[in-house]
Amino acid sequence: MNELWKERVAYQIYPRSFNDSNNDGIGDIPGIIEKLDYLKDLGVGIIWLSPVYKSPQKDNGYDVSDYLDIDPLFGTLEDMDNLIKAAGKRDIKIIMDLVLNHTSDQHIWFQKSREGIEPYKDYYIWKDPKNGSYPNNWDSIFTGPAWKYDELRKQYYLHLFAEEQPDLNFHNPKVIEEIKNIMRFWLERGIYGFRCDAVNVIYKSSFKDSVTKSVRKGREYYLSQPGNHLILKELKKDVLDNYDCFTVGEAGHVDKETAHLFCDKKSKELDMIFTFDHLETHEYLVKWFRRKFKPKKFFEKLSFWQKELEWNPIFFENHDQIRSVTDLGNDKLYWQESSKMLATLLLTLKGTPFIYQGEEIGMTNANFKSLAEIEDIESLNGFKMLRKWGLPKFLAEKFILKSSRDNCRTPFQWNDDKYAGFSTTKPPLKLCDNYQRINAESQIEAKTSILNFYKQLIGLRKTEETLVKGDFTELLITNHLFAYERQYQDKSLIIIVNSSKKKQRISIKGELVLSNYKRTDFNGNLSPYEAVILRE
Ligand code: GLC
Ligand code: CA
Repeated sequence: MNELWKERVAYQIYPRSFNDSNNDGIGDIPGIIEKLDYLKDLGVGIIWLSPVYKSPQKDNGYDVSDYLDIDPLFGTLEDMDNLIKAAGKRDIKIIMDLVLNHTSDQHIWFQKSREGIEPYKDYYIWKDPKNGSYPNNWDSIFTGPAWKYDELRKQYYLHLFAEEQPDLNFHNPKVIEEIKNIMRFWLERGIYGFRCDAVNVIYKSSFKDSVTKSVRKGREYYLSQPGNHLILKELKKDVLDNYDCFTVGEAGHVDKETAHLFCDKKSKELDMIFTFDHLETHEYLVKWFRRKFKPKKFFEKLSFWQKELEWNPIFFENHDQIRSVTDLGNDKLYWQESSKMLATLLLTLKGTPFIYQGEEIGMTNANFKSLAEIEDIESLNGFKMLRKWGLPKFLAEKFILKSSRDNCRTPFQWNDDKYAGFSTTKPPLKLCDNYQRINAESQIEAKTSILNFYKQLIGLRKTEETLVKGDFTELLITNHLFAYERQYQDKSLIIIVNSSKKKQRISIKGELVLSNYKRTDFNGNLSPYEAVILRE
């Protein structure tokens, strides 16, 4: 089978905030269909669609109550079929989010499991109380205890995420069969694969008390366990190998040895994994505390994974992160330059680039003013935790507002109309107030816009095979500069980026192919946040 996913540029859609077709304030599937030409024009070849399954939306669709149907909020099964068809017509493939670690507590499996009805009785992880309390000391990734007592079943169930997201029991072969059926159902409908949610926590090898001192107690028994690998091999062999498709797994906190187990060709598990090291260099203890961003560390992590794995997904944003231009660039004075600098990295490192909706127009963090503006369950739980740790309210709030996942979940900024052309109804999550300045419509027109720079870069990937197939060699990393070479057969390109407000000098030379500044040749001088692509 060919590996089209290595050549294409992927684009993540977070459906509720992409485009609202029926003006109820929530983005939907027909809304995505309306924007397919926009995506085609950008050069997108694969869409990763965040969950659109039936869901109570406690975690915006990552709490699924029916995997074989679409949530009415987003449309119908027929709309989904139409999306697959309409995208196919434009040669755009679609991958869906496979949430396999947990379901919603409203899923019929869970409802029956609570009542002890077979075959669902052991679909989830149920344990008796220990000394009148929790079965063990594990905590949830969304903070607080990982167990919730169920009055009906008179037992605790495990939830590594929110309490409305009970973990499936992957010791039960019936659960694995259910997952296979879900995968086949969608692959048969014409999708091109899956982004596998939280894929390295699905198998719990023991339920002993954790000896881990700080947060995420229990992780030594659920992170990337041997049983986890066996399940993925089974899914690959029994389902994925029968289709022309690919998978990308979300795998936080993996070391290099584990990463190889997940995604080496010979491991036969996943095709690639999202690792997060490069986005976590300035986190301190928990994601809510962030230190000053140091480009050097970011470059080193990028380079590390470039060298380590055969193929990586390249990404700086997704629905769980904050906006990259705010986080890794400079969204004030050098908003345009630093967005383009990041775009250059995104589209010239080795791997499959994943653009997150709005990144291509340089959307920024939302500038939230109060906790009342936040919807995200993780952020609200995080706030409670910081308060419990003794932080004063104003400080806890400040940390959460800056790092909340809602920063990248605000409605897409299509134009400068009221509600940014996203909807004619006020969306539940506030719009970023800069949409009159930052929006797609104005950037389609402006020749030197961020959007048009993305198009140029994506176009370059189509004419320069080296950018897709070339090897990666690190040339230089300093506090501000990152230079690397991509080489394929007898051709090579050199990419240099400056991630600082100051001018920099470098001794590497070459014929200029592209820069985010207006220049015709390159003499070793880089302007603030400049990125250049050179031919050797
Ligand atoms: C993944 C998703 C995130 C979700 C969590 C629980 O990390 O990306 O959005 O909250 O899993 O499903
Ligand atoms: Ca809608």
